[in-house]
Amino acid sequence: PEDVGIIALEIYFPSQYVDQSELENFDGVSSGKYTIGLGQDKMGFCSDREDINTLCLTTVQKLMERNKISYNEIGRLEVGTETIIDKSKSVKSVLMQLFEDSDTNIEGIDTTNACYGGTAALFNAANWVESSSWDGRYALVVAADIAVYATGNARCTGGAGAVAMLVGPNAPLVLDRGVRGTHMQHVYDFYKPEMASEYPTVDGKLSIQCYLNALDKCYDVYSRKAIASGIKESPNILDNAAAFLFHSPYCKLVQKSFARLLVNDFIRDSNPDFQGIYSGLEQFKDIKLENTYFDKQVESNFVKASQKMFELKTKPSLLVSNQVGNMYTPSLYGGLASLIASTTPNELKGKRVILFSYGSGLAATMFSVKVSENVTPDSALLRLFDSLNDLKYRLESRTKVDPSIFDGIMKLREQTHHLAPYRPVGSIQDLFPGTWYLTEVDSMHRRKYDRV
Ligand code: ACO
Repeated sequence: PEDVGIIALEIYFPSQYVDQSELENFDGVSSGKYTIGLGQDKMGFCSDREDINTLCLTTVQKLMERNKISYNEIGRLEVGTETIIDKSKSVKSVLMQLFEDSDTNIEGIDTTNACYGGTAALFNAANWVESSSWDGRYALVVAADIAVYATGNARCTGGAGAVAMLVGPNAPLVLDRGVRGTHMQHVYDFYKPEMASEYPTVDGKLSIQCYLNALDKCYDVYSRKAIASGIKESPNILDNAAAFLFHSPYCKLVQKSFARLLVNDFIRDSNPDFQGIYSGLEQFKDIKLENTYFDKQVESNFVKASQKMFELKTKPSLLVSNQVGNMYTPSLYGGLASLIASTTPNELKGKRVILFSYGSGLAATMFSVKVSENVTPDSALLRLFDSLNDLKYRLESRTKVDPSIFDGIMKLREQTHHLAPYRPVGSIQDLFPGTWYLTEVDSMHRRKYDRV
């Protein structure tokens, strides 16, 4: 099959959020720390009515309805998540209740490694379509998580949401073949060893260093492969893509990451243009990548030098991250949804988008998609753009919740998320139409759901 990639995309985020400047106040930190320091404006969160299964049910059903696809047309379904509520039973098996009246001959299962599971699921799906096992049907990929942290400095970097993607041939977003750059390593930067807790154990500073180091490594491999495969035309990779998308723990780290790519290009360049893009950066000629993760001088100078390009190539993809927070596995794909909702098909047609996926622990890949040229009224590219044109409206139609109420809901989740039997108490009225919610957990931990 030709042009395998992403055909349709659906995004879901909770209908409630907490305002980050109000949270600064509530947490007693200096005003501007979360909003300016981390670049976050709002954070979405779930009550006890939602769990990983409801997020995935809601998003898959929405994707199918919006794109008028029959469940019989799906031959593979993959879930990427790190929100584990059962050590054996997969989320994929729960999603099979949507397929009860359809063909149940569907491969694929759950994949887990921090925020990377969605990317692993996407690669599995694309590989299947390109393989001898393919039976001509679509693959469906779901990335979903509820990202919650214990009280303290990491709590403001939470979020929640889901992205579902339809994968198949003749896609409007074609995955470039043979250019993925991956780095994997054993490290304890962020992990979830406590089986009874939703919260991770996290070494914030180490996680940032690991993220930036993985970015360097993946960019190196991606760049070399891009040159070898001929998809790279200009000596600076930064010029080769219309957009750069990143896994976004918080927006400020993404801006620093974009600047980091310029640091990489600069170090590689045997004859840097000090009159142009590198003007004023002569003093950094001899820097070494591994010594610069927390070098404020290098960071601020390269952030400044790359500011215009960042605003052009990356900022439009940070809408959902800024408004919902870190959704973990869907974060990068929320970036793709944001880019589509902030651009027109004509602006992106024929262009390349480079994506960087990072999951602590760690697993990371840089890969790219080529946007199709076809923008005729019935084209798949136009349908994809049309399907996301309500994204900004949906973000604006959410309900703001006071930080003290948010804090109470976090406490309730802490105390009840693993209880059986349990009857959730959260409001159903507040949920967006079409949202699945938890009605009951019985004494054998069997969960029952309904849809608004
Ligand atoms: N106005 C403006 N900026 C401010 C203010 C203020 N009043 N106060 C602080 N800042 C700035 C700081 O200078 C800093 O910016 P800088 O890094 O550019 O210097 C920024 O705000 C953050 O402040 P810190 O003191 O560094 O924040 P802290 O250490 O308390 O927590 C952290 C930040 C580590 C990201 C924490 O929230 C965390 O652990 N989050 C979870 C881990 C995470 O997201 N890791 C990223 C990769 S792994 C993953 O995806 C899960």
